Amino acid sequence: MDIVDIKKDFPILENKNITYLDSGATTQKPTKVIKAIEEFYEKYNANPHRGAYSLSIEATEVYENTRTKIANFINSRSREEIIFSKNATESLNLIAYSYGLDNLKKDDEIVLSIMEHHSNLVPWQMVSKKTGSNLKYMYINSEFEISDEEIESKITDKTKIVGITHVSNVLGTINNIKKIIKYAHKKGAIVVVDASQSIPHMKIDVQELDCDFLVFSGHKMLAPLGIGVLYGKKELLNKMNPFIMGGDMIEYVHEQETTFAPLPNKFEAGTQNVEGVIGLGAAIDYISEVGYNNIQKIEKEVTEYAIEKLRKLDFLDLYLTPNTQNHCSVISFNIKGVHPHDVASILDTEGVCVRSGNHCAQPLLRSLGMDSTCRASFYFYNTKEDVDKLIKALKKAYEMFKKYIDNI
Ligand code: ALA
Repeated sequence: MDIVDIKKDFPILENKNITYLDSGATTQKPTKVIKAIEEFYEKYNANPHRGAYSLSIEATEVYENTRTKIANFINSRSREEIIFSKNATESLNLIAYSYGLDNLKKDDEIVLSIMEHHSNLVPWQMVSKKTGSNLKYMYINSEFEISDEEIESKITDKTKIVGITHVSNVLGTINNIKKIIKYAHKKGAIVVVDASQSIPHMKIDVQELDCDFLVFSGHKMLAPLGIGVLYGKKELLNKMNPFIMGGDMIEYVHEQETTFAPLPNKFEAGTQNVEGVIGLGAAIDYISEVGYNNIQKIEKEVTEYAIEKLRKLDFLDLYLTPNTQNHCSVISFNIKGVHPHDVASILDTEGVCVRSGNHCAQPLLRSLGMDSTCRASFYFYNTKEDVDKLIKALKKAYEMFKKYIDNI
């Protein structure tokens, strides 16, 4: 595959004159994914698991084959450990409602990192309040990392659940989840990994990690919006109650009682997002063709170039670890004295798309004494030219706001 000019595989990047630096929010989609969805509607569209006619059987096959593809992609022991959801948020809510509420009791502890996205934080506040368990946080040090001491002081014999993001969507810090999982297991806790910001960029092997649950959203890894994955160890999923009730997740329904379908259907009530599943399968094929080695090589080159250029702008504050091996693809920054929304609006006039705000991580920003940042997030379709455009636009923004900053 031609990895010299990746951008040509992404129609929107060809059609629009933009510098897209918001892949942490959602990635653009390659032709391969767009075509796979088109093909589904042109050739296989029917409701899987519902019809005895051949079109429905074909739809079932493409849907279930994608489940197997995902199981292989993350090296799950079994395809039954792969549950389709709407997104990482829904997967995390499923764990909180179906595992958390039934397994935690008063004075048990839930330990999260302060870097968590609200989706791996607010559901655990609900569990903590309903069960009387305590919610604790692992904080970050001056290098924007969670130290070993912090892990070992927060995860205790009382800890029952640890929730950890693999990569921070604000700081780009890659957390040492292997160490956290090992330590949590030693203390008898289970670990929920949010891989939303890591799986687009690096190989995930759930058996090697030995995580109990792992979630991600398709749209951050080239797939359509509205499709997510929950991986869970079979022995845990088997013991859990369904989260959403309805069609196809049942075995027998009587007037007063229902028995539930075996995994994975137990957790997939109602008509599913088949086009999303098919798009996710095509995204995985595309990522596999490019290869994580190439993805990482390109991203390393572009991100390191960006860090070097951004560090030279003395009107900027940057929020990232100095340990480059622990950093991935996301750079948060502020022009000193200027609100990030104003900066993002000026960058937009130059066609540069960055996210500004709290990035659904208010407790993290508050712990850093801030309420918002600008964030550039890179993917392997970005180039050094994109970085140059960002730098040029930032200089323009600074020039525009300079006189107001100097008066502060
Ligand atoms: N969670 C996404 C982000 O970080 C939307 O931008």
